[in-house]
Amino acid sequence: MTKRVAVYPGSFDPFHNGHLDIIKRCHPLFDELIVAVLHNTEKKPLFTPEERVAMISEVLAGYAGCRVETFSGLLVHFMERVGARTTVRGLRAVSDFESEFQMAQMNRRLDPRVETVFLTPKEKYSYLSSRLVKEVYLLGGDLTGLVPEKIIEKLKSRVVVV
Ligand code: PNS
Repeated sequence: MTKRVAVYPGSFDPFHNGHLDIIKRCHPLFDELIVAVLHNTEKKPLFTPEERVAMISEVLAGYAGCRVETFSGLLVHFMERVGARTTVRGLRAVSDFESEFQMAQMNRRLDPRVETVFLTPKEKYSYLSSRLVKEVYLLGGDLTGLVPEKIIEKLKSRVVVV
């Protein structure tokens, strides 16, 4: 039987519990799950893509068939390289839908074999975004319960010049 390989792409800067919740939900659905960290040179990231890969890999240790990689360029090209046919994306609210729909349609246009699967996180994470996590962190707010402990540790050990 052909392996069901899925890619969960994103910026993950930083990775938070909403992302982890989506991974917990899609992990049983596929034989292999690749968390793909976008190597985006335009944004000013909190963590380098390599740091993000290391942190997320630590959080996901124990999830069989799950690995973390960086990618740059088109997602569909990365998917072709790793033999994946499914993209997983989280949908938190209706406001996410428009851009997610556009991305899914564009990816289908670029490679008709690619399907996008949308999963919704637990309601308690529906307002959570990396942008807000970053802001709360930079302004000294408490991220307990919103970000995996391992990542909170990394955030605390980081001196940020603002
Ligand atoms: O976490 P994000 O920032 O919402 O993730 C966006 C991501 C990485 C999924 C998206 O920007 C992406 O796939 N970028 C790769 C470039 C690409 O393939 N673009 C064309 C299809 S939309």
